[in-house]
Amino acid sequence: MTFTDTTVSVVIGGTSGIGAAVAKALSERPGRVEIASRATGLDIADTAVVAAYFQNLGLIDHLIVTAGSSAPGGKVADIDLDAAKAAFDVKFWGSIVLAREAAKTMRAGGTITFTSGFLARRTVPGTFVKTAMNAALEATAKILARELAPLRINVVSPGLTRTEAYSGMTGEARDTMFDRAAATLPAGRFGEPQDIAQGYLFAIDNPFVTGAVIDIEGGALIN
Ligand SMILES: NC(=O)c1ccc[n+]([C@@H]2O[C@H](COP(=O)([O-])OP(=O)(O)OC[C@H]3O[C@@H](n4cnc5c(N)ncnc54)[C@H](OP(=O)(O)O)[C@@H]3O)[C@@H](O)[C@H]2O)c1
Repeated sequence: MTFTDTTVSVVIGGTSGIGAAVAKALSERPGRVEIASRATGLDIADTAVVAAYFQNLGLIDHLIVTAGSSAPGGKVADIDLDAAKAAFDVKFWGSIVLAREAAKTMRAGGTITFTSGFLARRTVPGTFVKTAMNAALEATAKILARELAPLRINVVSPGLTRTEAYSGMTGEARDTMFDRAAATLPAGRFGEPQDIAQGYLFAIDNPFVTGAVIDIEGGALIN
């Protein structure tokens, strides 16, 4: 799609990781890029705050959602249900509320691009919260692509990507995880935020893409 001086792109989660890479790429184009997260006062689990945010923003063209990276791990039988529901409130319900509010003020030709993750379609014991909320988001995005047409709605599904999401791990554990991914993935590397950012640009730029899930995961799903 053509970017002009009046194009407004909004990256929710743009303060870190993949979202920051998308915001940087979009900021090299004409127009304005708004970034938001809890650090800027926008908690996407708070429906009223999200509604007020878009009312204040006015007309927009593109919404990119990368917010929310944490979810409790563990077996279904052992999971902390409150933590699991809180993760859903952010990543799944937060994404849905963002889309609902953004669509009200989106100009013709607009796009919404969500973020899921490769675990949506990979069966790994102990990860069901990520699997369930990302699968739910991918399924709902396809419904939204019908309901909100001709706005285009897509999902980017990243594989393991080196971002601040893993800053809570020790340096050694993090290096081991990324080294193992590079050694075992068909692509022979782990992801960098810039690799994933290209998926959002593709979804925005290609006018024939809607209801799509764009896998950028180094081959994790064929491994
Ligand atoms: N990195 C990976 O390996 C990987 C793999 C598969 C899928 N993904 C998905 O890719 C997306 C981006 O991940 P990332 O690695 O870039 O994570 P990240 O570096 O931790 O960035 C997450 C962003 O979300 C924001 N955020 C978190 N909770 C929020 C909330 N309640 N309201 C508003 N903003 C919130 C954070 O900012 P604040 O803390 O300021 O709110 C931050 O800007 C996530 O959906 C993640 O599940 C990542």
